[in-house]
Formats: sequence, structure tokens, C-alpha cells
Amino acid sequence: MRTWLPTALAVPWMPVLLVVPALWVARAHLHGILGAACLAVVAGVLADVAVIWSGQVGSGQAGYHPDSRTGRKEPVVAQKTTTDVIDTLTTDHREALDLLDRIARSTHPSEKRDLADTVIAEVVRHAIAEEMYVYPAMREHLPEGDKEVQHDIEEHKQLEETMKQLEAVDATEPRFDGLVRKMTEQLRHHAHDEESEQFPQLRAQVPHERLVEMREKVEAAKKLAPTRPHPNAPHAELFHKLVGPGVGLVDRLRDRLTHRSN
Ligand SMILES: [Fe+2]
Ligand SMILES: [Fe+2]
Repeated sequence: MRTWLPTALAVPWMPVLLVVPALWVARAHLHGILGAACLAVVAGVLADVAVIWSGQVGSGQAGYHPDSRTGRKEPVVAQKTTTDVIDTLTTDHREALDLLDRIARSTHPSEKRDLADTVIAEVVRHAIAEEMYVYPAMREHLPEGDKEVQHDIEEHKQLEETMKQLEAVDATEPRFDGLVRKMTEQLRHHAHDEESEQFPQLRAQVPHERLVEMREKVEAAKKLAPTRPHPNAPHAELFHKLVGPGVGLVDRLRDRLTHRSN
């Protein structure tokens, strides 16, 4: 079967699948002039989504591009990488903990706020991508996969509760620093569990090619995932796949309207 056929069928429907739930959620939360601004920004966000989606569809595939000197189309060899999903997730942990450390050392409230918004968005996207693609593989391949995933999801919920509070606290308040410390402890503990117990088991049980495929799926999922904590939303693969892109669209819309870092 030709590989372009599913792409040709999927691409025209992607904006519809994303915008319908997004507008439905936006209608419930935004009114009046804010609603009008919302519609204007939706167009910009949709353009981003289209770019992300086209990049996602086209990534890693061979193709042709014009040679700058001759103008002839030369074959492009797909870039191969051996970086797998565990490398990516471990790097995410390090980067998030570094951001939290920078917040703790900063003395400027506006910088602390920007860094906090950034780390919240990064951790939310990371957790959702894990729940979509990594935790299902852990359930499938780890001897006590169900139990371990349940434990990890519980820790994701606790992190989301902390991030929800941190999102709402002014960076000049003493409580802000306390919540940053709490988030750092929770994330450090959770990352240690994954890196020392579950990721090594996953690497031992799952073929490398599949771990590389999972990295590609995780990276694509993070581009469309929500950027804000939603502690009461289901932590389920199906929910993230069906509703997540719409919620992500609304989150990015709110991020743009409020000039929030993500
Ligand atoms: Fe996790
Ligand atoms: Fe993780």
C-alpha cells in the first residue's frame, strides 16, 4: 500500500478534528470580546498545528529537494538516529529539574514566573506523552506493569495538583517558593523511580527499533499536548488521543492571550 494514501486522507481532516472540540471548550469559558479575540487567535494556532502536523507526517521520510547549484532535484536520505524514547524522557527529566533549580536561584519575580510557566508546560507535555505511549508499553512488557503504571499515574496526579497551585500563585508570595520546592521533590522522586526501575526494564524487554519509534511518537505527541495542568482530567491513553489535541489547542490559545511562556 502506498505510504502517501493515509497521509492524504488524514491531513485535510486534522484541523476539523482539532478545532471542533477546541471551539466547544472555548465557548464554555470565554465570552464577549474575549471570544472574538479567541477566534482570531485560533486561526494562528491552527496554522501552527498545520505546520507541526505536516512536519510530523514528513519527518524521517526520504524525498527530494532542489540542488542549490544545479537546480536539479537530488534524493534526500532519511536521517537515522539511535536515540530512543528513554534517552528523550531522561533528558526531559534533567531539563525540568534544571529549570526548577534556576527558579529556586532566581531573585526576579518576572523571571521566576516565566520559568515556572515553562517548566509546568514541559512537565505536563512529558507526562501526557508518557501516558499515551510509554505506560501502555510498560503495562505490556513489565512483569508488574499494571501496578507500576498505577503508581506512576498517581505520582503524575500529585505533580499536577502542585503545578495547578503553582500556576495560580504570584511569584512574589513566599508560597510560590514552597510550591517550587514541593514540585522539585515530587519530580525528582518520580524521575528516579522511572530511571532506576522502569526504564531499564523497558530497555531490556522492548526491541530498540520499537523504542526509537516510541521516541518519534512521544515527540509528536508533545507538540500537540496540553500545556497546562488539568488534574481532574482522566489520565488515560484514549482520552489523551481523542480529546488531548483539542484541550492542547485551547491551552495554547490561552497561553497566547495571556503571553504565557511555554
Ligand atoms: Fe512519568
Ligand atoms: Fe518521566
